[in-house]
Amino acid sequence: MSTLENTPAPADAAGIALGYAPDVAAQLDADIAEIMSRYPAGHERSAIIPMLHLIQSVDGYVSPAGIALVAQKLELTRSEVSAVATFYSQFRRHPAGEYHVGVCTNALCAVMGGDEVWRAVSEHTGLGSDETSADGRISLERVECNAACDYAPVVMVNWEFFDNQTPASAVDLIGRLERGEDVTPTRGPETVPTFRENERLLAGFEDGRADEGIGAGESSLRGLRLAREHDWKAPTQEEDK
Ligand code: FES
Repeated sequence: MSTLENTPAPADAAGIALGYAPDVAAQLDADIAEIMSRYPAGHERSAIIPMLHLIQSVDGYVSPAGIALVAQKLELTRSEVSAVATFYSQFRRHPAGEYHVGVCTNALCAVMGGDEVWRAVSEHTGLGSDETSADGRISLERVECNAACDYAPVVMVNWEFFDNQTPASAVDLIGRLERGEDVTPTRGPETVPTFRENERLLAGFEDGRADEGIGAGESSLRGLRLAREHDWKAPTQEEDK
C-alpha cells in the first residue's frame, strides 16, 4: 500500500471551523458523502433527513453547527435546513437524554390510560415535556401517535416500543434506565440502544441488530391471520376501476 493510501483522510475544514474536533469533522465529512451518494445526481438535497439524524447521532440534537454544516453541504440556507428540522418531531432543538422517553398521549393511547402514564413518569422524573435530566440520562416528551395504537398505551425509548404500559410499568422502566440497567423493548432489539446510536441507525448506518427480538406483535398478526382464514385480499388495481 502506498504512503498516500495510508494517510488518513483530511479533516473537513468546514466542520472544524464550525467547532467540531478534527476527527469528528473528518468522520462527519465521510458519513455525509456516503449519505449523499445514495441519491441520484442532482437530487442530493433529498439526503437532508438522514443528514439531520447523523447530526443528532453526533451532537445529541440538531445543533446550530450541524445546521450550518448540512446547509453548506447541500447548498441550502440555514433557515431552509432549520425549517425542515423544526417540521419533523423526531428532531430535537436541544440535547436529548441518553434515553429519550416518549409517552403517547394521542387519542387512542389517551383513552387507554396514556395521560395517567404521562403524569406518573413526569412526577417520577420531575421533568416536563421536552426536558432533560440534569445528568443527561433521561429526557421526556409527550409524543403523537406512533402508529402502534393496537398496543395502547405506548411508551417509546429512543423510538423502541414498550407496549401496553401502565403508570407502574412505565415508572419501573424509567427507574431501570436511571440505574443504568439494560431494558428490552416489547418489539425490536434485545436491548435499547442509546439515543445517539439509534440516530446513527436512522441516518442509514446499519448496526447489525435488525433481526434481534420480536418483529411484529400478536395484535398486528391477528388481522393478518383473519384475512388469510377468510381469504380477504386487498383489491387489485383492475378491481378498483
Ligand atoms: S394513539 Fe398512541 S400509538 Fe396511536
